Amino acid sequence: MGIPASTLEQIGQRLDLVEVIGGFVSLKRSGRNFKGLCPFHPEKSPSFMVYPAKQFFICYGCGAGGDLITFVMRHEHMEFKEAVQVLAEKAGIQVSFTTGGPSLANRPLYQAHETAAAFYHEKLTASPEGEPARAYLAHRGLTPETWKALRLGFALNRWDGLLTHAREQGMDPSLLERSGLAVRREGGEEAWYDRFRNRVLFPIWDQRGRVIAFGGRVLGEESGPKYLNSPETELYVKGRLLYGFHLASSAIREKDLGIVVEGYMDFASLYQAGIRNIVASMGTSLTPEQVQLIRRLTRHVVMIYDGDYAGEMATLRGLDLFLEAEMRVKVVGLPSGLDPDTFLAQAGLEEMLRTIRQSQDLFDYKLGLLTRRYDPKDLQGRIRISEEMLPTIKRVTNAIERGEYVKRLSEVLRVAETLIWSELGRVRKEGSAAPRGAARPEKVQPAAGMTVEESLAGLLLEEPGRVRQVEERLPLEAFQDAHVREILSRLRQMSQSGAIPPDGRTFLASLPREDSGAWEGRIARWLAWADLVVDKEGTLEELLGKVKEGQVRSSLEALQVSIRQAEAQGQERETAQLIAQYNTLMKSRLSGKGVA
Ligand code: CTP
Ligand code: MN
Repeated sequence: MGIPASTLEQIGQRLDLVEVIGGFVSLKRSGRNFKGLCPFHPEKSPSFMVYPAKQFFICYGCGAGGDLITFVMRHEHMEFKEAVQVLAEKAGIQVSFTTGGPSLANRPLYQAHETAAAFYHEKLTASPEGEPARAYLAHRGLTPETWKALRLGFALNRWDGLLTHAREQGMDPSLLERSGLAVRREGGEEAWYDRFRNRVLFPIWDQRGRVIAFGGRVLGEESGPKYLNSPETELYVKGRLLYGFHLASSAIREKDLGIVVEGYMDFASLYQAGIRNIVASMGTSLTPEQVQLIRRLTRHVVMIYDGDYAGEMATLRGLDLFLEAEMRVKVVGLPSGLDPDTFLAQAGLEEMLRTIRQSQDLFDYKLGLLTRRYDPKDLQGRIRISEEMLPTIKRVTNAIERGEYVKRLSEVLRVAETLIWSELGRVRKEGSAAPRGAARPEKVQPAAGMTVEESLAGLLLEEPGRVRQVEERLPLEAFQDAHVREILSRLRQMSQSGAIPPDGRTFLASLPREDSGAWEGRIARWLAWADLVVDKEGTLEELLGKVKEGQVRSSLEALQVSIRQAEAQGQERETAQLIAQYNTLMKSRLSGKGVA
């Protein structure tokens, strides 16, 4: 759903760019404008400028620039809508396009959770009835500092602990019901009981650290479900968030690595041990939304799931989701019967950190699992193994890496590589849980040391007929590399005169000799890469997208230069026009590819 223009207008009227940015960056006045150290790249002397009259910022060091919304998108790693929501809330504006996110209508629900979290926490830490819970957590090795950091709580062994407290606070029980914290008694009368009783509670936060649900664990091994969680409510939608995300996000970004575990307890004990770049998926099946949350912060993930069958299956599904999102994922395979919490308790922090450092490449992990499950000496076993490995290999977007995996699989299964390639061409990424449209990441990483343009030229030399695909999408001027431009221009001429060479060799032979000599070394590498690409059409399409992105980037840079000149010469109207252009371009770029 679109965002009403009036909302954007109101945000612009009520919020001041200098004030908002000033909350993140220390700004000094410089004439009519403000100056500071850029938050988007490391620098010692300030090249980050804020222009209050234009409500526009720009960094002359790294090229970041835009308006208030762009700033929040980049700084907080948010999508456009999220940034608008945050700003609208800050400005006290009701947002009408809410997608289950914050809105004024939900405010009482946040308050109910806040009240409940404070109540439960107080019962755990300071009430006589909390003693069994304190003993239990101590027995699990969690210290009072951790109870506090995670704001753990205890629900009394009563039917009306929270209800009574809430009534005393003047809160309507139906609000607790809407929050999933109280349950209405059957029979229609106006009566409720507490959902959580005699359980240790883990508050579940949204990305911004507001409590929106709880997970409750029984003390010890008593009967009944081990965990009881809040039902889905207007605030809480399962699978949309990761436990501990807001506590971990800065550590994940700093370490450029996210560690994913399954359980609250795993999170709590690793967090206590000082491992802070960690989140818990809360149960077994990771969702694409959860993957996207981490992806905003890093492309590197280590999964540490339980060493049992369910954990292994969950890991395998998670692997494919991360791959699909173009992330690099490694796996810690725990000894059977252990989870991260018990492994840490038994082996110690050093050993835990060592296993994380030495985590297995996803390929080895999956292949290891499969060869334990199916016999690679037996034909049926080999078929099963290849059937399960191929969709994963298909998701690997780096062609060199994919080639390596195909080679290794062919060795393990003792079949010819070409057979694996042809099977790979046939498999579809079945069960693909790709994120929808906007969140979908770019697909291709060119080979190491090769530029996007070189890769594109390589593909064209491999199959010159595809030059038409390029012609339709981009003008020659979009390419920076002189060699690439030259190749394209020649191919175009040939295509126009109806004489497209059948392959790269023929094309090279047609070049004037002095040219081909100088190019040969370069071109040989391009061709070697292009040869590995399975989906040539799709890859070419995505490379074209990247070249286009490069073109947008240089337009932005050119606009920056013009803005600075116009600004310096006091050309008000000119500056405003350039800034408008810049904003439009920047927004389409940010929302087109998501902010990563
Ligand atoms: N879970 C759940 N409901 C259950 C069981 C599990 O919601 N009935 C979720 C919880 O988020 C739990 C996670 O799945 O933390 C992992 O389950 P498990 O490994 O059984 O729990 P732990 O967190 O390891 O808890 P403990 O060590 O106390 O057994
Ligand atoms: Mn456990």
